[in-house]
Amino acid sequence: MDKLIIEGGRPLKGTIRISGSKNAALPILVACLLARGPVRLSNVPHLRDINTSLKLLNILGCDTSFENNVVSACVRELKPEAPYDLVKTMRASVLCLGPLLGLLGEARVALPGGCAIGARPVDQHLKALERMGARFMLDGGYIHGICGELTGARIIFDFPTVGGTENLLMAASVAKGCTILENCAREPEVVDLANFLNAMGARIRGAGTNVIEIEGVRALSGCDYRVMPDRIEAGTYLVAGAITDGELTLLDCPLQALDALVSKLREMNVAVTPLDDGGVIVRRDGQLTGVDVTTQPHPGFPTDMQAQIMALMCVAQGSGSIQEKIFENRFMHVPELCRMGARISLKDRTAMVRGVDHLVGAPVMASDLRASASLVLAGLVAQGVTEVQRIYHLDRGYERMEEKLSAVGARIRREKE
Ligand code: UD1
Repeated sequence: MDKLIIEGGRPLKGTIRISGSKNAALPILVACLLARGPVRLSNVPHLRDINTSLKLLNILGCDTSFENNVVSACVRELKPEAPYDLVKTMRASVLCLGPLLGLLGEARVALPGGCAIGARPVDQHLKALERMGARFMLDGGYIHGICGELTGARIIFDFPTVGGTENLLMAASVAKGCTILENCAREPEVVDLANFLNAMGARIRGAGTNVIEIEGVRALSGCDYRVMPDRIEAGTYLVAGAITDGELTLLDCPLQALDALVSKLREMNVAVTPLDDGGVIVRRDGQLTGVDVTTQPHPGFPTDMQAQIMALMCVAQGSGSIQEKIFENRFMHVPELCRMGARISLKDRTAMVRGVDHLVGAPVMASDLRASASLVLAGLVAQGVTEVQRIYHLDRGYERMEEKLSAVGARIRREKE
């Protein structure tokens, strides 16, 4: 297993180009199953989860190639089964339920794994698909769904779910009649998927609001599409600039999708300045100060930035708090940050962070994707050497992270264990 060795304490200066969004690319790749013609996707990041998705597409009967951040996909003959070996490593595989039921009337998808951040059930996906006429049974660790023709329905999610909304967008796009989804997730990645589906001929209105209307069409065609830039990668590098007291310019930074983070960073005395060419400059604008953060569905503060802003709060002046409202078990970075000298106490779903003068490098263990990113950020500012072990999580979600960080002055290298 690879690990990252980081010598901390160097301010990062220079330019980083933000990659395409992992969380937008994953559902968009699955949506390629719906196309009756070749699809060409650009700005797809080279990541482990993307490779897993391509394998999944191949198994489900869709040919793919992936070169220079461009995926070409063309459906040969759809098959209904997504095997456990693939699904266990990537929860987003459950997104193929919607397209398979919509096109084949049958889907067998292993119950998902993915990051170990809580129970993460898929009941909302299943209930909503049931409203459209599907029936499900659990069979040997697989969700087995069957239906005649999926038909449009009015569906009210119990709470906004990103994957649930995406699954239903795909199913409803090829269903008979009109579907109205209420209490939908409003994340920018949901909008990107809807834009992609519309580019293939779907009729979706309202993505980005909490009510989405989808008029089913008989068939979707191939298209060319560029995946949106990764707002969480961008957010992570905004924090990297601030935590190291450096000055970074981020290119292709989707600032409009980062409002909640940027307003917290500004409250902490971090200047985030948009440039005319779409770039963004980040640097400190005074002494970092603690803030109170609560994670919420978009447009609230993203849970996927919670661990990273915690690293920043660890070296800010004064206290702050972080309340995690989306996932029940998403504080696995806390004991690791404490091993580096952070002062964090946990009670239920709230972390109280008291800023310290400095962090000290230590061997630490990455536990999930964003937790891993927070340990790298802490390592960048810590005195001495930090060893982040089990970085396969990082490889699922950050394209060439150590290369990008080295290019702006970080001392960071990968070592095989
Ligand atoms: C997506 C993102 C993930 C992000 C999360 C929240 C991808 C590939 N992953 O995950 O990075 O952290 O959105 O922004 O895009 N839930 C249920 N039942 C369901 C579905 C969800 O109880 O059927 C719960 C989950 O356990 C969680 C909450 O709802 O507590 C939000 O989950 P959801 O929005 O569905 O997240 P994902 O789509 O899995």
